[in-house]
Amino acid sequence: MSSREWEILGVDHVAIAVTPETFDGWRGVWSRLFGGSIFYDIADANPGGVSSMRLCGIKVGNLSIALISGIDRKEKSQVTKYVERHGDHSIQHIAVAVKNIEAFLEETRGKGIGFLGELLLREDAWGGEIKQIFGLPFDGKLHSDEAPFFEFVERPKDSGSFSSGESFSDDFAKRLYEEVEEAARQEHTGVFIAREILEKPTTSAT
Ligand SMILES: [Fe+2]
Repeated sequence: MSSREWEILGVDHVAIAVTPETFDGWRGVWSRLFGGSIFYDIADANPGGVSSMRLCGIKVGNLSIALISGIDRKEKSQVTKYVERHGDHSIQHIAVAVKNIEAFLEETRGKGIGFLGELLLREDAWGGEIKQIFGLPFDGKLHSDEAPFFEFVERPKDSGSFSSGESFSDDFAKRLYEEVEEAARQEHTGVFIAREILEKPTTSAT
């Protein structure tokens, strides 16, 4: 029996990396062909920075998609590198919605799960705090700017029902971009789940 105080609720959003050339095309596929509604479109998440990204949030049913493409300046964007490695329209991260994310972090960190930095906090448009953190790459062979990863997020709830994310602020997009760029610059060797835990799941991870 688990005595856990947290819960995985579902997929908050899926971030898909595309090329600048195909961005509008994919945006049209998700909105017009698939019937989604665009709830955010940020042309430049990191204005004036050495690199940046374009970000568009689209909601289709209960699925939230974040389309991203790199903006290269002095440096090549992590998103550009990601698309070069994985191809156009490749899944960069899946954000998992978690109830009681602090308890989730405490328990999973204690069991060796690796996260990038600390919880990011921001005020949500409709009031209340949103909490987000990124997981380290799944495979230690990939550098952090070319590896897919998980994000974990907790959103304020005005009802008991779960709904996927539909809020990306300019400020948050910038911080998020800087945070991941910074992490990508560091030659860290951490992974989301250590090899030893994967090989002995019943003794270490349960
Ligand atoms: Fe995300």
